[in-house]
Amino acid sequence: MSDTPQKTAAAPHSSNPAAPDPLDEAAVGAAVEQALAAIAAAASLDELKAARLAHTGEKSPLSLANREIGGLSKEFKAAAGKLLGASRGRVAKALAARSGVLEAEDAARILVEETVDVTAAPRRRRAGARHPLSTLQDRVCDIFVGMGWEIAEGPELESEWFNFDALNFKPDHPAREMQDTFFVEPPEAHLLLRTHTSPVQVRSLLERELPVYVLCPGKVFRTDELDATHTPVFHQFEGLAIDKKLSMADLRGTLEHFARQMFGDGASIRLRPNFFPFTEPSAELDIWHPGAKGGPRWIEWGGCGMVNPNVLRAAGIDPDEYSGFAFGMGIERTLMFRNEVSDMHDMIEGDIRFSEHFGMEI
Ligand code: DAH
Repeated sequence: MSDTPQKTAAAPHSSNPAAPDPLDEAAVGAAVEQALAAIAAAASLDELKAARLAHTGEKSPLSLANREIGGLSKEFKAAAGKLLGASRGRVAKALAARSGVLEAEDAARILVEETVDVTAAPRRRRAGARHPLSTLQDRVCDIFVGMGWEIAEGPELESEWFNFDALNFKPDHPAREMQDTFFVEPPEAHLLLRTHTSPVQVRSLLERELPVYVLCPGKVFRTDELDATHTPVFHQFEGLAIDKKLSMADLRGTLEHFARQMFGDGASIRLRPNFFPFTEPSAELDIWHPGAKGGPRWIEWGGCGMVNPNVLRAAGIDPDEYSGFAFGMGIERTLMFRNEVSDMHDMIEGDIRFSEHFGMEI
């Protein structure tokens, strides 16, 4: 608001209050003109509100002049009343008219601003995607659940005893070195981030009734630098079967069935002698991958073997009565050669475009 009225339209009181002067007609006229100018200049409803307050409010020149009427002598009262009534009427009318115009303008503006185009195509929300590692892990679990196995889990923060000792690792085994294992302080607590899912074998044997057939998927940790084929945090699944009279033939049959479920009927497996402290005999497991990029070929997949009697003893099981087999594979590695992912970075960076193209089935 620009023109704040400063002077009252009423004539100054004369020194003799008993005989006041008539109202100053010119001043009332000027006050009306100022009011009309301010009303006409108001460009918004807010500005009009300010003009209304300034020119018709209690302290406006016209209101003050109106208050003077009561003190006028009789001869001036009627004329002054008429003049002020007409003046205030003109201002009120101008206010109403301007208010009508501004309200219409406002309504028109809101209509444009809040227009909804009911014909516009809806913006699709991306529903996200499951990570292919999760999908693949679920698929592996489904295959074993289909054979009557159970899913078992263990903690990622593991005690050294479960991760190494109970699995028959000797105290000086190189895998216990700091270069491979994330030990967790304080050292006397003997805690670490599990380096494989094999400790869940021992936990399952301690917690469950025999016979035991479990698949144990989960996250594992090793002090590797991240590159195209390594990551310090990755996933494995571990299989363990303990029953009476289980043999290497049961291990072979189970893995062959699993391989065909994962890689198609043309898949098969082969075992090559190897060493793991927790299995005896131990083998490296290769898969014949019929759909491999660049043609069918053997690919190194994981480790397996007959559970070492020392592991059974650590879990309080009599190795003369029970025997069993175990195997372990990496989920990232499986995804890499099964679904042709050549760079580990794609799996861990979390770009949804990578996950989306695998879909919900893998
Ligand atoms: N725990 C082994 C690793 O991380 C993998 C493994 C090998 C698991 C042989 C087994 C097994 O159960 O029998 O390298």
